[in-house]
Amino acid sequence: MSNMPTTMTTTTKAATMNESKISARKVQVFYGDKHAIKDVEIEIPPRSVTAFIGPSGCGKSTFLRCLNRMNDTIANCRVEGHISIDGENIYDPKVDPVQLRAKVGMVFQKPNPFPKSIYENVAYGPRIHGLARKKSDLDDIVSSALQKAGLWNEVKDRLDAPGTGLSGGQQQRLCIARAVAVSPEVILMDEPCSALDPIATAKVEELIHELRANYTIVIVTHSMQQAARVSQRTAMFHLGELVEENDTDKMFTNPDDQRTQDYIMGRFG
Ligand SMILES: Nc1ncnc2c1ncn2[C@@H]1O[C@H](COP(=O)(O)OP(=O)(O)OP(=O)(O)O)[C@@H](O)[C@H]1O
Ligand SMILES: [Mg+2]
Repeated sequence: MSNMPTTMTTTTKAATMNESKISARKVQVFYGDKHAIKDVEIEIPPRSVTAFIGPSGCGKSTFLRCLNRMNDTIANCRVEGHISIDGENIYDPKVDPVQLRAKVGMVFQKPNPFPKSIYENVAYGPRIHGLARKKSDLDDIVSSALQKAGLWNEVKDRLDAPGTGLSGGQQQRLCIARAVAVSPEVILMDEPCSALDPIATAKVEELIHELRANYTIVIVTHSMQQAARVSQRTAMFHLGELVEENDTDKMFTNPDDQRTQDYIMGRFG
């Protein structure tokens, strides 16, 4: 009897870990001497949308970049702690960051299509990852990715036109198609709508809603309304710490932490 509570705790923990797509433990990030992420622990469930919110400079982008090792590309940046996806340590020396970034795709704040055709923008990833054996396979991947990104009808007659010639909202959906084309499991989005007008934003949000059926999505946003509309879980960062992580409904109606309350009420940030 005496060891019962321990057993129960272990069981609960194991169940939670099995359900997580991404699991982060004691994550620290340093830029030189600056301690930008402090002891962050989070479980991110699969096939759902998790929103990261918090005031500017609190570390949202820094932590997001830990999830596909994009911080490796920043010279003075050092990541410590443990992050696993499907139970696999993504910082293990055996892991190839290029393969990891195909599995964990990323969409940035500013749409950044390559200066190439719409077709080539989407085909590039599948080609370098050897996902298509012949041209017709590649055509299928490109059309399927553009359909998943809700862009196919608008571009199917001009696949050879430059990607940079699309509107901002279309360019962002092209970047989502580019991420989707390599069959990722996770898509990280860092303020994907901040350069878009309300109509383009609504389209991308609708798309996020649809993609959730097949992908694990983590989105950074400054818009409380957007977090409330698109996500099921919300994590609030402040000064490099994760102050609260909760169901989105609870987060916006009855948060546990005073700092969350102050932030969503617009008292700071
Ligand atoms: N390359 C870098 N070199 C040094 N410090 C950095 C670098 N990138 C970010 N920082 C610092 O790390 C902290 C977290 O920055 P980060 O960009 O992650 O914040 P954020 O929450 O995404 O902010 P925003 O909402 O403005 O995008 C900030 O203090 C920032 O100045
Ligand atoms: Mg940021």
